[in-house]
Parts: sequence; C-alpha cells; structure tokens
Amino acid sequence: MYSEKVMDHFSNPRNVGEIPDANGVGTVGNAKCGDIMKMYLKVENGVIVDVKFKTFGCGAAIATSSMATEMVKGKTLEEALQLTNKAVADALDGLPPVKMHCSLLAEEAIHAAVEDYMKNHSGE
Ligand code: FES
Repeated sequence: MYSEKVMDHFSNPRNVGEIPDANGVGTVGNAKCGDIMKMYLKVENGVIVDVKFKTFGCGAAIATSSMATEMVKGKTLEEALQLTNKAVADALDGLPPVKMHCSLLAEEAIHAAVEDYMKNHSGE
C-alpha cells in the first residue's frame, strides 16, 4: 500500500523534535482523525536554516512531515509558502488516496509556521 520512500520516512523520520529557540511555530490538526502536527522553524535572513516537527498521527502523517521538513530546509519563506501537499506526496512516490489528507496536514503545518514567523517579524 505504501511506497518504499513512505516506509523509509515513516520508520526513520528526518528532523524530529523541537527547536527551543524557534522563531516560527505552527500547529495544525485534522478534526476527523484527531492527528496533530507541530512545526518549528528557525529563520535567518528570510531563509529556513533549521526545521523540526512533532507529529502525533498516522504513519503517512509522520512520513509527510518528515519529507516536508526536508523540502523546506534551506529554502526562503516564499518558497516554503509554495510547498503543496501534492509536491510532498509526489516526492514520496505517491500516497494512497485515503491518505492524501495526511499530506495536507504537512503543507498546512509548514504554512502555519511560516505565517507565525511573518506575523511576529512584520516590519523588519
Ligand atoms: Fe489523519 Fe493520517 S489519518 S493524518
């Protein structure tokens, strides 16, 4: 049912944890399944220099959070805002249709963390 990449990111997720001095944090949840995802960003000069996540959720949610963090690390905030759940799912060689909402959580968590940073640093 899952691609090898999904299984790899699920069993060996990248960038798990918290960033104590994160300057952008986003938490999102899916009311239907009850899964929760939290993203921490460390932004310097408009670039995401570090990113970590904590996901209390299904395997696909963990795999997509892991892939999403890899995809935005080193990117600008504008680039991170363009990340879509489809791009994350494609990078994992696809997800079963019933699991696409899990990748949406990853997209939303990244966007929420970027927006949190922008809200706190507007006018800089
Ligand atoms: Fe809800 Fe995967 S089942 S995030």
